[in-house]
Amino acid sequence: MASDSKVRGMVQDAPKRVGDFYDRTTPQFLEVYGEIIQAFRTTDVADYLDYTIASAQLADGQHIIDAGCGICGPAAYFAGSLARLKVESCTVSSVQSELAREHIRQKGVEDRVNVTLGDYHRLPSLFPPLSFDRVIFLESFGHSKDKAGAVRSAWEVLRPGGKLYIKDLFRRESKDEWEQLHIDHICGQIDRAYEYEVGDLHQVLSAIRKQGFILEFLRPPQVPMEKFEHLSISNDFQNLFGIGKIDSWDSYVFPIDFYEILAVKPAYSAEKEQHLYHLNRKD
Ligand SMILES: C[S@@+](CC[C@H](N)C(=O)[O-])C[C@H]1O[C@@H](n2cnc3c(N)ncnc32)[C@H](O)[C@@H]1O
Repeated sequence: MASDSKVRGMVQDAPKRVGDFYDRTTPQFLEVYGEIIQAFRTTDVADYLDYTIASAQLADGQHIIDAGCGICGPAAYFAGSLARLKVESCTVSSVQSELAREHIRQKGVEDRVNVTLGDYHRLPSLFPPLSFDRVIFLESFGHSKDKAGAVRSAWEVLRPGGKLYIKDLFRRESKDEWEQLHIDHICGQIDRAYEYEVGDLHQVLSAIRKQGFILEFLRPPQVPMEKFEHLSISNDFQNLFGIGKIDSWDSYVFPIDFYEILAVKPAYSAEKEQHLYHLNRKD
């Protein structure tokens, strides 16, 4: 196992706690989730990864970053599907980075997928700035306790015209005061159990737009009902951890919504090329 000194980019306290959490729990995650550590998914997880390729607009020849890559299940799948895609990925868990290296080798994509042990808040210290077509966060962004910092970090490594893609869970909102208290309580439990900080959608969108990104879409993942996994896998996992298990739907208050966000770093500068700014691409 790598020591902290081998983690590229200085790792702050909060990411280090996330890394320690995954160092301890990755075997359990793999037991329940397999190589794709995402709760919102399809019964055949390959369908969800194909959906992600389309939704994040991944394409052959791109150079992308998978920020918070787990054991590189998604990254290896994307590289297997797109013959000239190159993926730099990072995880803050040394256990995961070792397993990821092995997974990449097993899938035969080591020439195009690389894993780095490092903090996604410091992407410019891990990878060349201003050079990537995509930075994607697949159920990893919500671990951040400095979401504006994570957005800034992605901005700095994207080329103009590059895109940020986030798929994650966000705190639900209710106009019923009691229900909102309940939602907040369960989100607190999720945060504590999983070293998470369930995102506030308003704050995250604001951070993305303040950084200078232009929103391309915000929507729930568009998965057909018959393919949706119904989150029973998360219940299996919660059984293992013993928190927030859904025993009955009768009095259950659903605490979160899943959303995906795609935002573009404008190809033209808002200051220097105002008349072209909303064109967003250089053909
Ligand atoms: C729920 S898992 C998702 C893993 C992967 N995206 C997948 O779909 O299999 C969350 C991941 O985010 C990573 N992560 C959380 N905070 C991070 C940080 N500050 N820097 C790098 N990775 C981080 C964790 O190490 C873990 O790999």
